[in-house]
Amino acid sequence: MVDLRAQIEATRPEIDAAIAAVLDRGAFVRGPFVADFEAELAAYVAGLGSDAEVFALGVGNGTDALQIALMALDVGPGDEVICPSFTFVATAEAAALLGATPVFVDIDPETFNLDPEALRRALSTRTKAVVPVHLFGQCADTTAIRAVCDPVGVPVVEDMAQAVGATWKGRPAGTLGALGCLSFYPSKNLGAFGDGGAIVTTDATLAERVRQIANHGAARKYHHTAVGVNSRLDAIQASILSVHLRHLPAWTEARRAAAAMYDDAFSGIEGVVRPVRAPQAHHVFHQYTVRVPAELRDGLAADLRARGVPTMIYYPEPIHRMPPYASGTDLPETDRACREVLSLPMHPHLTAGQVAFVADAVRQSLAPVAA
Ligand SMILES: Cc1ncc(COP(=O)(O)O)c(C=O)c1O
Repeated sequence: MVDLRAQIEATRPEIDAAIAAVLDRGAFVRGPFVADFEAELAAYVAGLGSDAEVFALGVGNGTDALQIALMALDVGPGDEVICPSFTFVATAEAAALLGATPVFVDIDPETFNLDPEALRRALSTRTKAVVPVHLFGQCADTTAIRAVCDPVGVPVVEDMAQAVGATWKGRPAGTLGALGCLSFYPSKNLGAFGDGGAIVTTDATLAERVRQIANHGAARKYHHTAVGVNSRLDAIQASILSVHLRHLPAWTEARRAAAAMYDDAFSGIEGVVRPVRAPQAHHVFHQYTVRVPAELRDGLAADLRARGVPTMIYYPEPIHRMPPYASGTDLPETDRACREVLSLPMHPHLTAGQVAFVADAVRQSLAPVAA
């Protein structure tokens, strides 16, 4: 699904030098390597088309990023946080950890992203925040989401764990709401060699709140003005991320090129629905996820595995049906997506030959059915 080995080989001398620099300096927690990476990440996001200054703060992982972002917005017991159910559990978990209630809404079946009309219906006087997910690398319709949220003063937190580098109407993910939450899990588009995460925002006050919350609520050393957490990006990971960030633009283009090749290869295959691009979105293809008929999906996945093609199902079970989150809500498009989706190998080092191999395998697997 991902080829970290190819990535490591391509960058090994730079990575070795970056890690050596941290060891030489002996600054492992906070310090210059983290500050440098935060500045580079902020500049990268800003450079994608922000008209405001961008602040970036490293944290321990993407789940912490979501929790800290919600803490910065004072989310707590009694509050509701609206989010999709078709996502990784962390999106809802962050709200639940704070004693708030995740309220799940359905998705747009074309993009798999939060449906703004469903959001409008779910809004209540208890809604404290809305967390759209830019799933698979494509931004949710933040124009329509903001049109629902802004008039009632509900802040939007972008779960952009899968969407660093993505834009919506020429504006970068992370600047489309109050705060954007990134994950640097190794398989992400910008991955560390361990856990890591970040929060980006164009709001200087929120940036300072986030910085304090992530560091035990400390306004200055040993003076704590809020209840915080200990969630830090460590310096070795930051130094690795600085290297990877330099390659990210090229890696993103390589993902988009691989997606275009998949698109071409699948254009004539009946039964395979290719990912739909919203015209306003610049998709960074964290995943290339097709839909296939539900009754064929698991058999196809097994057959592809036998042909040497790994696949994954993101996500097989919606969060609103999991025991800790079961809400009795009916989300038909979410349920249907869980039955139909199949994610194919996607990473920046995919070759044209590998894409053709995968497409051929899919064609052959489905051929007896089509015939
Ligand atoms: C959509 C989404 N949100 C949140 C997370 C949580 O990130 P992490 O694993 O870094 O905690 C992930 C990735 O794992 C994710 O894909």
